[in-house]
Amino acid sequence: MVVCAEVSKASVFYFYKVGMKKIVIINGPNLNLLGKREPKVYGANSFESFLETLKEKFNSVEFVYFQSNIEGEIINKLHEFGFSSDGIILNAGAYTHTSVAIGDAIKSIETPVVEVHISNVYSREDFRHISYITPNVQGLITGFGLKSYELAVQSFL
Ligand code: DQA
Repeated sequence: MVVCAEVSKASVFYFYKVGMKKIVIINGPNLNLLGKREPKVYGANSFESFLETLKEKFNSVEFVYFQSNIEGEIINKLHEFGFSSDGIILNAGAYTHTSVAIGDAIKSIETPVVEVHISNVYSREDFRHISYITPNVQGLITGFGLKSYELAVQSFL
């Protein structure tokens, strides 16, 4: 009987883990400097500390976080998780406005991608109004500060 109870507890845990959503957050160039970089535009919080609050808030989500300043590394991550995760949240930083290759990578994968920006790119310089990402994503969230990421997580739940 005791063995049975243990097995059933284990299977409840197993199904809980299996039911967990895996959400990948990919940040592009210069976003490693959040908290230090132009705080009036991007805020005073580091992404690492924000990520801890995100994990606490969405404790049934398995998060993977990746940041790179290198275009090809961002593409490699999209390929790596683009067939095995439930959602990808992508802030490609300035590559948003220049990278045909990241746009193509999003088109090539199966996992839905939500594009996020901390600032409202449409209230800024004209070159930030161009995105090679937007035509290929499920949705776009821009201008809510770090809350943009939280809204993106909610969109996958
Ligand atoms: C950004 C907006 C981009 O235009 C800029 O190059 C960034 C950050 C944002 O999150 O607001 O690096 O993606």
